[in-house]
Amino acid sequence: MNYFAVPLDMHDLQIQLSRDAGIPIAEQISTAIGASIRNGQLYSGARLPSWRDLSAQLGVARGTVRVAYEHLIDEQLIVSRGAAGTFVAHQGLVANDTDTSELRSPLPDFFTHPFSQAPLIFQMGVPAQDVFPAKLWSRLISAAARQAATNCSVSYPDPRGERVLRTEIAAYLSVARGLSCTPEQIIMTNGYTGALGLIIHALGLKDHTAWIEEPGYPLTRTALRMAGLKPIAVNIDEQGLCVSEGIAQAPQASLAVVTAGQQAPLGMTLSLSRRHQLLDWAQQTNSWIIEDDYLSELQLLGRAAPALASLDRCGRVIHVGTFSKTISPSLRMGFIVVPVEHANHFADVAAALAPASSILTQLALAEFMRKGHYLRHLRRMKRVYKNRLEALRLALQLPNTSNAMTGLALLFRLPEHVDDTAIAQQAAALNLAPSPLSAWYSKPNTAQSGLLLGITNLPEEGLDISCEQLRQLIEGHI
Ligand SMILES: Cc1ncc(COP(=O)(O)O)c(C=O)c1O
Repeated sequence: MNYFAVPLDMHDLQIQLSRDAGIPIAEQISTAIGASIRNGQLYSGARLPSWRDLSAQLGVARGTVRVAYEHLIDEQLIVSRGAAGTFVAHQGLVANDTDTSELRSPLPDFFTHPFSQAPLIFQMGVPAQDVFPAKLWSRLISAAARQAATNCSVSYPDPRGERVLRTEIAAYLSVARGLSCTPEQIIMTNGYTGALGLIIHALGLKDHTAWIEEPGYPLTRTALRMAGLKPIAVNIDEQGLCVSEGIAQAPQASLAVVTAGQQAPLGMTLSLSRRHQLLDWAQQTNSWIIEDDYLSELQLLGRAAPALASLDRCGRVIHVGTFSKTISPSLRMGFIVVPVEHANHFADVAAALAPASSILTQLALAEFMRKGHYLRHLRRMKRVYKNRLEALRLALQLPNTSNAMTGLALLFRLPEHVDDTAIAQQAAALNLAPSPLSAWYSKPNTAQSGLLLGITNLPEEGLDISCEQLRQLIEGHI
C-alpha cells in the first residue's frame, strides 16, 4: 500500500509556458502544478520530478523550478522530503474538496497502492505470501482447465457463478459463519468491491444516504460516493457502530455498511445488542444493511462471532464475503448472500451488469473447498499469524497484545498531536508500510492518530531492526 513506489510520470504534468505572457516563468510553473493538485489530477503523495528533470523537460533553469517548488511549499501544496524527493502534500486534495465539512474524499493516499507488488513489512490488507499453497493451487487450476476444456460448452455460464462453488460456499457459511442459505441465494462477485456495485444497482440506492463506519474502510466511502450515494460517517465505540447516533444523524438513510465481525480498522465485534438495534432500525425503516465480512472466520484472538445475517429474520441484510484475506486478493473472488425473496432480482441484475467471471478460478476454488483444503488453510494461517503477532509484540516490547490487536494488525496509538501520516511517509522510505490510523477517518478534524502494523507479512529475520527503525521515527515525532 505504499504509494511512494510510484513516482509521477512527467507526462502527467501538463505545463504550457509562455515567454510573452508577462508572467514570470517560475510563477507559471507553480500555477500550473498548483492547479493540477487542486483539481485532483496530481494525487496526494505523488512524487514530483526533480528540479533537474523538470527544468530539462521545460527548457528552463533549475533555479526557476526551485523557486516554483518553494512557492508551492509555502502554499502547503507540496512537501520536500530531502533526498527522498518532493511530494504532493497530504492535504492537497482535501483542500479542494467542496465537502470538507462532511467527508474526506476521494481515497486517502495509503489506499492508492502500487498493484501487483510484493507486500512490504507492516503492510495491511494482503495475506501472507509464504503461506499461499502455490503448488496445490496450480494443480487445481490445471485440473480445472482440463475439466473446462473437456466439458467445453458453448452456452453462457450461470451469471451467478458455478453451482458447485456456490454449493461449497453455502456449506461453509453454515458451519463457519452460522449462516444458513441455499446456493440460489449466493452470487459470485469480483471481490467486495464488485459486490458493492452489484448491490447498489440491484437495490436502486443511487442518491440515497448511507451510514458508514467512522473510522472505516476508505474504499467503501469512495465507492458509495462514486455510485452517487451520500455517505454519512457514524462513530464507532467499544461495541461497534453507534446505531442511535446514526439514527439521530441521518434518520433518512436507506443503507448501513458495517464490518460486524471485526470492525475495520479497530477490530471490535459488533455487540449483540447493537446487532439487534441495527436490525430493528432496518426493519422499521425498510432500510438495508450490507455486512462486509472481509475476514470471515479469520479471527486470531477468541472465536469469530456468527455473521450478522444469521440473525436477520426480515430479509434486510446482504452479506458480502471475500476470499481476498483468506486466500488471495488476486483471485478476485467474492460473493453476496441475498435474502431469498430477492434472489431472482439480484440474479437478473448480475446477468445484465456484473456476471461472475473466470470459470477456471471458480472450479479450482470449489475443489479447494470440497477437499477440505480451505479449512486446513485457514487453520494454518491462524497459527502462522498468531506466531507473527507474538514475534511483533516481543520486538516492539508491547506488554498486552489483546488491547492493541485489530483484525490482522496491531494498533499502536499515538498522542493526538503526532502526525501519523508523516511517520508513515518516512517509514515508506525505509520500505516499511504501517498504515496511519487517521487515514481511515472520513472527518480529518476528529481523526485519531496511530499506526496500524499489519502482521501478515513479517520477516523471521530482521524484524527487530524494522521495529527499531519505526520506534526511532516515532520518537522523532513525539
Ligand atoms: C474492510 C474491508 N472490506 C473488504 C475488503 C476486501 O475487498 P476485496 O474483496 O474487493 O478485495 C478489504 C480489503 O482490504 C477490507 O479491508
